[in-house]
Amino acid sequence: LEQAKRPSVIWLSFQECTGCTESLTRSHSPSIEGLIFDAISLDYHHTLQAASGYGAEEARAEAMKEHYGKYVLVVDGSIPIGNPGFSTIAGISNLDMLKEAAAGAAAIIAVGTCAAFGGLPKADPNPTGAVSVADIIKDKPIINVSGCPPIPVVITGTIAHILTFGIPELDSLGRPKAFYGQNIHDRCYRRPFYERGLFAETFDDEGAKAGWCLYKLGCKGPVTYNACATLKWNEGTSFPIEAGHGCIGCSEPNFWDFGGLYKAL
Ligand code: SF4
Ligand code: F3S
Repeated sequence: LEQAKRPSVIWLSFQECTGCTESLTRSHSPSIEGLIFDAISLDYHHTLQAASGYGAEEARAEAMKEHYGKYVLVVDGSIPIGNPGFSTIAGISNLDMLKEAAAGAAAIIAVGTCAAFGGLPKADPNPTGAVSVADIIKDKPIINVSGCPPIPVVITGTIAHILTFGIPELDSLGRPKAFYGQNIHDRCYRRPFYERGLFAETFDDEGAKAGWCLYKLGCKGPVTYNACATLKWNEGTSFPIEAGHGCIGCSEPNFWDFGGLYKAL
């Protein structure tokens, strides 16, 4: 029996650190194996594909041709427009490859804060002229899955949702409301200490040892929208605040610059 065709997904990596792919591989529900063997045809992905060089680029071209207008394009990393030569793949600038691949995509998922908002490469003084996917592509639905990196199941859950039900409901920054609808502070287990005015003042004082609120140590939970306090990381094991460090707001635009990592708001 001929197997039903799985939807084609093309994943492009631009100015990034591979953290988003590292995160993707740790998804447990759906698992990365379940996703790429049962649900999607991952036709191009630098880190995960067996092919390289000419063969890899040919696979991308073939997938785009065969599934034109129907494939889902996933992008991680920002796009340098200060000088297109700052980042190229197979001699093609990131800018040109994005425009070419976006033209035939049904929808684009910008994975990670770099693709969604420019991220770390865009931090002051932004030496490469880094911009987000949405800064360049204006005629396709773009779903931003921000985070540095995003939570594993938020990446795979968003891909699965788009393939099953279509584009999810998005917030004002283009992120799925199901995962980014609430801020960290409102779901944080340290919130009772915040309400009682009990704050750690240094990372090794008695308040820190007692698990008090990390607001005075620069926690950006009150202005950060993400699912870390509920879904957590590593199959629901923990998240930064539970590990003793305040949220640095990694799912928000310009998080690297706003407020400074260790300055209170
Ligand atoms: Fe809010 Fe951060 Fe304090 Fe949690 S640790 S209650 S997110 S300020
Ligand atoms: Fe990022 Fe804050 Fe979650 S730093 S990983 S959004 S707790």
